[in-house]
Amino acid sequence: MNKLRVAVIFGGRSGEHDVSLMSARSVLAALDPERYEVTQVGITLEGEWLNGENTLESFAQGKTQDLNRVVLPSEPSHSALYVLRNTDHGEMLDKLADVDVFFPALHGPFGEDGTMQGLLELADVAYVGAGVAGSSVGMDKGIFKDVMRANHIPIVESLLVLRGEIENDINRVIADVEKMGAYPFFAKPANLGSSVGISKCNSRSDLAEGLMEAARYDRRVVIEKGIANVREIEVSVLGNEDPQTSVCGEVLPSRDFYSYESKYLDGTSGLIIPSQISAEMSNQIREYAARAYKAIDCAGMARADFFVDVEMNKIYLNELNTLPGFTSISMYPKLWQASGLTYPQLVDRLIEFALERKAQRDHTERRRLV
Ligand SMILES: Nc1ncnc2c1ncn2[C@@H]1O[C@H](COP(=O)(O)OP(=O)(O)O)[C@@H](O)[C@H]1O
Ligand SMILES: [Mg+2]
Repeated sequence: MNKLRVAVIFGGRSGEHDVSLMSARSVLAALDPERYEVTQVGITLEGEWLNGENTLESFAQGKTQDLNRVVLPSEPSHSALYVLRNTDHGEMLDKLADVDVFFPALHGPFGEDGTMQGLLELADVAYVGAGVAGSSVGMDKGIFKDVMRANHIPIVESLLVLRGEIENDINRVIADVEKMGAYPFFAKPANLGSSVGISKCNSRSDLAEGLMEAARYDRRVVIEKGIANVREIEVSVLGNEDPQTSVCGEVLPSRDFYSYESKYLDGTSGLIIPSQISAEMSNQIREYAARAYKAIDCAGMARADFFVDVEMNKIYLNELNTLPGFTSISMYPKLWQASGLTYPQLVDRLIEFALERKAQRDHTERRRLV
């Protein structure tokens, strides 16, 4: 049996660079060497693509200077990675590896937002996860909410404003936000993750600060009505056109809300699997998750994050993460584990779904034949 050639891409230009290294470590450990021939590609914070002996270790130790530059040709028909070598005759491209499937173990901007997926589409290769539209709509908190509203999936009331509006007349923005109701509000950059730039605003002065903070990270800012007494329930979705959902899990943030510190620094935020909610609520959440997944044309996987307003006993979809945290102790794989799918089985399935999606693409007519 020929081994399947897989390229795992990690690091990247986002604030979740280090989280990506952790996800990649688990993915690499799970790829059975009997079945897969693996190439590692690290992307630096500056955006350089690199490979060498044990690329991941070099990235983890911050010692990337001896690695070689890697090139993925944007033209179709290569299905390969190349290395750039300095020779007496200038820079030369050598083939590094043929690749059957790319596995972007990347989170956040330039990895999860459709940009990487656009490059992989141009190169016409198979890759794990959602395509261009699914990735970018999943990442954009403004557009995502509009698509959910159009599909009658409940979403917290929100407002989208431009950085320019905040800079020109912040008092008008504040007045518009306050029309949504009482404090607290959450101010968020439209395109980011890991809670970076997100503030819980309990007062007008908090809101002014929160708007300016969010506007540092994006041209577009989303302001949401805050749910005062909230439970955070998450469910894993897997598949292409007929996605399956896992059991639900609950996150218990270590702080006032599930902030960056609470996610990565405290180490005390708890995961409860399965979540202690009624079967009825769990079924409703899973149904919304699968519907939302299809609505954005997601593929491969996503983690769907919900809010439950405890006082109103009402469910809201918060977001779909199309490349969720993927270490062996992350919520996404743990929910599958609790649903009967081990981590290595999950990685195998994702690779199969990537190949299935590519086969569907190959069946699509690109031009009219005369
Ligand atoms: N409308 C809201 N009501 C209550 N809590 C919220 C609300 N929006 C965000 N939060 C809190 O902030 C956290 C991060 O927000 P989220 O939109 O999930 O951003 P990210 O994409 O960075 O994870 C959530 O997990 C939750 O704890
Ligand atoms: Mg979140």
